This record gives sequence, C-alpha cells and structure tokens, in this order.
Amino acid sequence: MRVGPLELTAVTPDDVDELWPLLSDERLWAHEPDSVHPDPSVTRAYLERAAARWDAGLSYWTVRLAATGEAVGSGGAQHHTRGGADHWNLNYRIAVDHQGRGYAGLLVAAALAAAHEAAPERPCVAWIDAHNPASIAVARRAGLRDLGLRDNPADRPRLAWADRELDDAVYPLVEPR
Ligand SMILES: CC(C)(COP(=O)(O)OP(=O)(O)OC[C@H]1O[C@@H](n2cnc3c(N)ncnc32)[C@H](O)[C@@H]1OP(=O)(O)O)[C@@H](O)C(=O)NCCC(=O)NCCS
Repeated sequence: MRVGPLELTAVTPDDVDELWPLLSDERLWAHEPDSVHPDPSVTRAYLERAAARWDAGLSYWTVRLAATGEAVGSGGAQHHTRGGADHWNLNYRIAVDHQGRGYAGLLVAAALAAAHEAAPERPCVAWIDAHNPASIAVARRAGLRDLGLRDNPADRPRLAWADRELDDAVYPLVEPR
C-alpha cells in the first residue's frame, strides 16, 4: 500500500536483514534500552509472530521509501486481547536517521484507517512511556487521547493513548486521572 512517500507491505520473516539494523540501534530504544534487538534471531522471531498475525487480517507493516525501496521502519495495528476484551495495538518505529519527516504520522494514520475498517468496534490503543515525547507527539497528532497510566499485563504500566474511552475494569488505571 502506498502512503505518500512510503510503501507499506505486510511484514515477513524475510525482512529481517532490512529491519534488524533499525531495531538493533540503541538510539531507537533510548526510552526502553532493554528492548534493543541484540541479534537478528530476535528480530526474526518478532517478524515471525507479526507475520502470523496477518492470518487474522491485519498486523504490522514493513515501511519502505517508495522511491528507493529502503526500509525505514515498521508498525501498524495488531489485534490484542485481554480479560475478554480486545483492542488494536498501535505500533510505530522509524529508523533514527529518517525521523522527523512525518513518516510515523503517515504510518499511524494508515494503521488507524485499516483498523477502523477491519473491526471498528475495537478501540485503538498506543501504549506509550511517559518519557517518550516523540511518540506522544505522534499519538496526539493522530487524534488519540491520553487516557492515563494503565496496567499493561504484557509489560509495565504505560500511558494508554486511545481513540475512545477504555473500560477501566479491563484496563485498570494505575494512577487516578
Ligand atoms: C516515535 C517515532 C516513531 C516518531 O517517528 P517520526 O517519523 O520521527 O515521527 P513524525 O516525524 O511523524 O513526528 C514526530 C513528532 O515528534 C515530535 N518530537 C520529536 N522528538 C521530540 C522530542 N524530543 N520532544 C517532543 N516532541 C518530539 C516532532 O516534533 C513531531 O511532532 P509534530 O509533528 O507535532 O511536530 C520515532 O521517534 C521512533 O521510532 N521512536 C522509537 C520507537 C517508539 O518509541 N515507538 C513508539 C511506541 S510504539
């Protein structure tokens, strides 16, 4: 799918050679150093999981510059479930050398449009560290709202930036809003 200067294609494990250099860049993970991909096998496993999710209709894309084919990021919307409820998890990562050009904004807009078309009843949520201002700026510009620091069983508590209200029983607030 073409989005402005970007080409979005469903991730495949074969993208590992293009995406590992991005995902192993410590500068990308300044807000969560533990998430650096230390070797290509980690990236491959990540891509295998994300590629398998396409069987359910929507998952993450590899982001390339349409003009050159250079991979500059990954992300999109993936179906996540918890406590009998479900949501679209919004994910966006842009290579450090290509940041600040609006690419994440285009990626998130495409993810929101695809998620709303595939299953509009599910909320779209970007789980964001409070000390990740660039990600917060992207979420705000995409029209998402900060619904507070919430429990995130798969990970540590994060800010839930979402396109609608969330059920507090399913996504408990860690601090009062
Ligand atoms: C977050 C990320 C995807 C943004 O990518 P990008 O292509 O540079 O994003 P865009 O160019 O579309 O927009 C960047 C926005 O962040 C803002 N920004 C960048 N650095 C910032 C900072 N240190 N403080 C505040 N705002 C900042 C820019 O001003 C811009 O906002 P604006 O358009 O309202 O001015 C990229 O920084 C990244 O991959 N970070 C690491 C992974 C990550 O945190 N992903 C998000 C969690 S899923």
